[in-house]
Amino acid sequence: MRKKIVAGNWKMNTLPSEGMTLAKDVIAKSGQVNHDVELVVIPPFTHLSEIVKLASGTRVSVGAQNCAQWKSGAYTGEVSASMLQSLGVEYVILGHSERREYFGETNAELLEKIKIALDCKLKPIFCCGEKLNEREAGEHFQVVQQQVEESLFPLDDSSISNIVIAYEPVWAIGTGKTATAEQAQEMHAFIRNLLANKYGEATAETISILYGGSCKPSNAGEIFSKPDVDGGLIGGASLVADDFIAIAKSF
Ligand code: PGA
Repeated sequence: MRKKIVAGNWKMNTLPSEGMTLAKDVIAKSGQVNHDVELVVIPPFTHLSEIVKLASGTRVSVGAQNCAQWKSGAYTGEVSASMLQSLGVEYVILGHSERREYFGETNAELLEKIKIALDCKLKPIFCCGEKLNEREAGEHFQVVQQQVEESLFPLDDSSISNIVIAYEPVWAIGTGKTATAEQAQEMHAFIRNLLANKYGEATAETISILYGGSCKPSNAGEIFSKPDVDGGLIGGASLVADDFIAIAKSF
């Protein structure tokens, strides 16, 4: 059975003290969510140490929003996977469209980040998704296929099982425009089929594929009801504990 996951990507929001309040609130309310749903909070780097301590022994896991593609060395401003591992961080988002867009991250670089994260026992949440012009041109399947093939397919069978995929159509991120549940299902099934062709059906069936992009309490239920949608990567709505919990409760 695939894991159901609802993860909150806080992006560059909250000061450390505000982040602690938010994390405390999420932990306090986590009991309202079905036990088969894993809850993950993904704060900025500066908050990780304290929030990992806070969440330890609770059902809430902690992730980071990025890591470097190098082990260590003269890379000013970067944070390594082993640094995250040493804090007790469990997940790391890699390839978010904002990182691709503003920091020029490429599929090849992302493969390096994924490998190094896996070496450090972190679980990558690999983001993929097309831009509006690509969807309008009917190229969305091709774009996502290329992202998946170039960043994930060099991985072996045991590595791919430790990956979580997030399909996030760029036109739906922070715009209030959500993909329809049908559009999400169609792309998730497409991605699962790519995985099945490469790694076999049994492996593809174990990989969680999350939807991301303007997911909120009012639309999460319908999206999560689709057979290939295993949860959500939540941006804006994860900054309000009640909304984040309401989304997770819609499973
Ligand atoms: P959003 O962001 O929910 O604010 O659209 C999702 C994401 O970027 O992960």
